Amino acid sequence: MREIIVAPSILSADFKKLAEEIQQAEKGGAKWLHFDVMDGHFVPNISFGIPVLKSIKGNHGMINDVHIMIDNPKKYAKTFVEAGADVLTFHYEACKNIYEARDIIDIIHENGAKAGISIKPRTKAEEIFPLLPYVDLVLVMSVEPGFGGQEFNPEALGKIFLLQYHIKKDNLPVLIEVDGGINEITGKQCTLAGADVLVAGSYLFGHDDIAERIKKLKR
Ligand code: DX5
Ligand code: ZN
Repeated sequence: MREIIVAPSILSADFKKLAEEIQQAEKGGAKWLHFDVMDGHFVPNISFGIPVLKSIKGNHGMINDVHIMIDNPKKYAKTFVEAGADVLTFHYEACKNIYEARDIIDIIHENGAKAGISIKPRTKAEEIFPLLPYVDLVLVMSVEPGFGGQEFNPEALGKIFLLQYHIKKDNLPVLIEVDGGINEITGKQCTLAGADVLVAGSYLFGHDDIAERIKKLKR
């Protein structure tokens, strides 16, 4: 049975007690911690960045799954890995072309982290097929990036299925992660379609039964 990885997104956490929220997530069975960086350019919101990542790195045993929704990811890739990203996922749409995406993947690998590529809802999965042999993870956005608490877009399911078909066909060691509007219903749909990693923010944080909710997502 494939292990489903749950990655709580701290964008939805209570920042007055961030350390406690992270501890709850880890105790609740999360193996990854999803860290949403937003620059107010690539997405119409600003979240948090390097100082916050540095402050949480080493304070928990989960994988730092850093999702940068920023313009010019090539300029910041090394900095995010040095600040503590174990997996660094950037957006295909923020790259000048597929060659720049390849360069960023190389930079991430050269600095010792895993590389992920993310696509927004309006980007076709086929556009990143040429990158599948080089990345460790593909992040399929099931909402328009920028905010937590949005409605799941079921078009993500077709993309997940298509990607898992190509990944399996070519026997590639690539994880599929899905992000946005994930709860026990949509999460199940995504894992049935082939997703390995489920990001969840508002479904997990702000409730007193996070362990129970994480268990439901892993089913
Ligand atoms: C949105 C972020 C997501 C978001 C998920 O741009 O990339 O990670 O925090 O939040 P929910 O699970 O509430 O949709
Ligand atoms: Zn995210």
